[in-house]
Amino acid sequence: MSSLLPSVMVGSAIVCLVIKYYNSHIQPWFFSKVYNPSLAVYHVHCREIKRKHFESIKDHKSADPELRKKGALRILEIGPGPGYNFEFYPPNSELTAVEVNRFFEEQFFEKQADHPHIKMERFVVGFAEDMKDVPDNSVDIVVSTMVLCSVRSVEGALKEVHRVLAPGGKYYFWEHIIEHEYRLVRLIQHIASHPLCMYQFVFAGCKLNRKSDEIIQKNDLGFSHIDQNRFRTPQKSGLHAICIFHSSHVKGIATK
Ligand SMILES: C[S@@+](CC[C@H](N)C(=O)[O-])C[C@H]1O[C@@H](n2cnc3c(N)ncnc32)[C@H](O)[C@@H]1O
Repeated sequence: MSSLLPSVMVGSAIVCLVIKYYNSHIQPWFFSKVYNPSLAVYHVHCREIKRKHFESIKDHKSADPELRKKGALRILEIGPGPGYNFEFYPPNSELTAVEVNRFFEEQFFEKQADHPHIKMERFVVGFAEDMKDVPDNSVDIVVSTMVLCSVRSVEGALKEVHRVLAPGGKYYFWEHIIEHEYRLVRLIQHIASHPLCMYQFVFAGCKLNRKSDEIIQKNDLGFSHIDQNRFRTPQKSGLHAICIFHSSHVKGIATK
């Protein structure tokens, strides 16, 4: 028995190293390259609803007098992935991204060519829960779409969003949340969200059973006004659509 111990220890160490390597290299790469096409399909289904959701950004006035003079806005998007939301930002927007997956950086700057009306300011590789590179009260608009499902702490990310927003600044969110109507879908979401479920390894810890709407609504975050509503997207086919893309969503605007 004691002769087995060193082999078990070496075996466990190798498994840990493989998981660590997978989490820091293979999984983010997989997500940026392979998951990207399915996000693209989702985006096409949602384009018109998103356009309406983001429409009022253009009426917002920057808190920065210089930007206000130019009719520009400072926008921060957390977890933009490949940047499907850039098309909704008004002309002269100055855009910063805080994105945990470094494999999206190249795509972020490539998007400049598709959206010449936006100035791609900065791509910060980091966590939304700890945006130390973004000063307090410095941003006019914060955007997140399908990100709160993956952050380590929804409360932590929201506190940071509130901190970086200028007074009167707005947080536009669009998130999938736990299914509210169909019990079977909810059960699948709970199983897929278990830390030991394969889904968690493949899809970057995306939790399908989060109640982000309830957490946003809690008034201890400091937002002066929160306007949110539940909805479903028109994307209906496939298991992925049933459990994520067409399942319950919340979208809204929180004002600092
Ligand atoms: C499902 S994708 C959505 C991408 C994009 N927002 C969209 O709607 O197409 C989730 C994104 O959030 C990023 N992400 C996950 N956790 C994060 C965190 N803690 N901080 C910042 N970004 C994060 C992921 O790397 C990924 O790009």
